[in-house]
Amino acid sequence: MKAVINMDTGTRVKDKRAMSHTNISYATTLHNTFLLGYLDHNTGTSATPSEARQRVLYELANARVWNVQQHIDWDMSKRSSAFPECKSDDPLDTYPPYQSLSREQRHALSWLRHAMELSDILHGEQAALLLSAQLLSVVPNAAARLFMSSQVSDEARHVDFFTQYMVAAKLPVSPPNDQLARLIHDALQSPDWRYKFSVCQVLIESLALARFRELKSISSIPALQQGLALILQDEARHVKFGTDTLHEAFTELTPEERELRGSHLLHSALLLIDTTHSSAALAREVRWDAAHLRLHLRQYRIRHPEIARQRLRQLSLNMSSAGLMTDNIRKRLERITNPTNS
Ligand SMILES: [Fe+2]
Ligand SMILES: [Fe+2]
Repeated sequence: MKAVINMDTGTRVKDKRAMSHTNISYATTLHNTFLLGYLDHNTGTSATPSEARQRVLYELANARVWNVQQHIDWDMSKRSSAFPECKSDDPLDTYPPYQSLSREQRHALSWLRHAMELSDILHGEQAALLLSAQLLSVVPNAAARLFMSSQVSDEARHVDFFTQYMVAAKLPVSPPNDQLARLIHDALQSPDWRYKFSVCQVLIESLALARFRELKSISSIPALQQGLALILQDEARHVKFGTDTLHEAFTELTPEERELRGSHLLHSALLLIDTTHSSAALAREVRWDAAHLRLHLRQYRIRHPEIARQRLRQLSLNMSSAGLMTDNIRKRLERITNPTNS
């Protein structure tokens, strides 16, 4: 029997179902509504402009359903010889302990780093699957629920794709770091649907869009490139739906509430893109000095502020669309993405 950590109490309980990892337990209470206005929406005459847009996105989702087995070429013949990513600039390229490794060692290490990143992506997709399933019964109108049903199905397909990719590429799945586990737990457990929505549709989706675009352009594995291209189309729909719906849901917010919610999202995003945890895990694996590696990566980030700019750009756009970008948050973002000016 494996232990399951209760994130509230920190205690461990025995669970027969947990097979190989420590699971994240949560409990939530949501105020749900069973809607009865079917005919109002079917006539199309009483739909609001935002409901009409939600309906269009739902139809688009139906037209673009893809299949993990049929639409992906699962030939993994490049797995054994190629590095997973072909990028011109890697922060480790200038790190002396990395430079002293043989090609075989660097090849093994690059796949290990890839496995760690893909693990976090898989956890993020599962979080999006469970959050969108919770939101299906909470979003306020029939058109939004139809769209959420398509998102649940999309996220299930994303979980399936990344799971199958990990299996095909023989990559081990590592557990989420404490920050990611805490964010997933808190969002799933929150009774506030707007909070769940902003974590799922703005935070997770924005960071995913930015990173998926980057990964798609540098991946050397055709299956991953094909899957990411299809997933990017799905995620773009989710973001559009999410920011439109939140913009309406947040019209009543006071400036203070807006600031609080926006600050929390930015703070969470900075924790998620922070590489401290992954560099510590990497240092453990290859027995490098973790503090030395962290310092090297920090100096690299300072020399390359465009990395943080690129990763946070989509979040900034989506927070603005959702109505969560205040002057203070914009200034903080500018300081973070231009560190030499601060
Ligand atoms: Fe997804
Ligand atoms: Fe999504």
